[in-house]
Amino acid sequence: MDIRCSDKELFVFKKIAHAAAEMGMPCYLIGGFVRDKLLGRPTKDADIVCVGDGIALAHNVAARFSPSPQVAFFKTFGTAQIKLDDFEVEFVGARRESYSADSRNPEVEPGSLEDDQLRRDFTINALAISLNATDYGKLIDPFNGMADLGKKLIQTPLEPSRTFSDDPLRMMRAIRFASQLQFEIDPGTFEAIRLNAERIAIISQERITDELNKILLSTKPSIGFDLLYRSGLLKLIFPQMVDLAGAEFIDGKGHKDNFYHTLQVIDNISHHTKNLWLRWAALLHDIGKPATKRFEEGHGWTFHGHEVVGGKMVPRIFAKLKLPQHEAMRFVRKLVELHLRPISLTKENITDSAIRRLLFDAGDDLEALMMLCEADITSKNRQKVRRYLDNFEMVRARLKEVEESDKIRNWQPPITGEIIMETFGLSPCRQVGDLKNLIREAILDGEIENNLAAAQRFMFEKAAEMGLHPVNNP
Ligand code: CTP
Repeated sequence: MDIRCSDKELFVFKKIAHAAAEMGMPCYLIGGFVRDKLLGRPTKDADIVCVGDGIALAHNVAARFSPSPQVAFFKTFGTAQIKLDDFEVEFVGARRESYSADSRNPEVEPGSLEDDQLRRDFTINALAISLNATDYGKLIDPFNGMADLGKKLIQTPLEPSRTFSDDPLRMMRAIRFASQLQFEIDPGTFEAIRLNAERIAIISQERITDELNKILLSTKPSIGFDLLYRSGLLKLIFPQMVDLAGAEFIDGKGHKDNFYHTLQVIDNISHHTKNLWLRWAALLHDIGKPATKRFEEGHGWTFHGHEVVGGKMVPRIFAKLKLPQHEAMRFVRKLVELHLRPISLTKENITDSAIRRLLFDAGDDLEALMMLCEADITSKNRQKVRRYLDNFEMVRARLKEVEESDKIRNWQPPITGEIIMETFGLSPCRQVGDLKNLIREAILDGEIENNLAAAQRFMFEKAAEMGLHPVNNP
């Protein structure tokens, strides 16, 4: 088979071939490595399947390198791994396997290459390339994986319900591959996902979220999320997102379908960034809409405060999906909360203080926020889109201008909580926070100048109104 491998890969495969020949053990390249090479996509790790003991083969291969890499092996699964710099090779003995109904743990017995190919998830992942002397490089494709690659089709080698009920994670994988490769899922395979969706309950959250992240990082994530929605999986793994779907009508007035709007926003932002967390912010930007939806007589549909409600939902969603709880979550929450702010600055007569406030609130995430806002424009009306984009250009120019003169982006108010406590002999308490906020707000509003002397004068004035007295000057 003519696939393009690097010299390093070919060198490693030759060593494996020699080791396998010495042990009289047929062995093959299989899985994602073969698939991606045939598609001309970048590859990282390689899977080797042998008809025999995979762990023993891995040890034999490792011994042929100097220095010999460590062999990491898992006896129960019969798998072994060696790492050659950044190239990871995994070995497994060909297996037939069946799964018990309530867990993903397989019961395994040795099998032929074809048994092993049959138990793999999709025909495009079951393609094998021989590493044996008699037919080195030959493609072994009993389930027409090559034809499916050509047809851009994802289907299972076995009857699909069996493949999915054996390992329900594969339902997520089917959709993830459809999204990553921009392939179709065969109708019979998709129907089996719909029928088996509930079985996803036995899969750990980490693995589900891993697939969600891969979908989100694909070139056109809407493909994956639409399939998750239509298969019924999304309702089970991420119901808040399903709540966005649908448009309600009252008195002939409808609102847009916020699910499909969200998918469009994710696709839009994906043209500009590979940052997973910025893509998560796009995914969650309107998540507070269902909870805030109202119909106001004479006005139509409103979603007042959806950015605040949405922001509050972010930590809960991140916790449930076992996504990181700290920096990434705070970033996503902040963007969800701020996503309406730049658009509100496109009206006329916007004051410097409104611009300063956004600079202060967004800080270093301003660019990400502007990117989200631009992605949020999903109107089909080209003139409207042009007008919004022009408005954002204006906002960008104003932000730049104000930042250049006021340097507010990473600004800290000149008076800290410590200074307030020392000056007025206070321990940490609410008054300290109140006073600090008043000073910060006065500077951001342009009420006082942004310097220490002006801030001190203002601090003494406000403290006196609050009944506070400096300790050295009672
Ligand atoms: N596989 C499977 N069922 C799974 C996981 C994996 O049948 N639930 C098989 C497939 O043949 C797959 C191979 O094991 O190609 C390797 O799995 P993995 O490394 O997880 O996926 P890749 O297909 O290599 O793709 P990616 O690296 O993009 O995850």
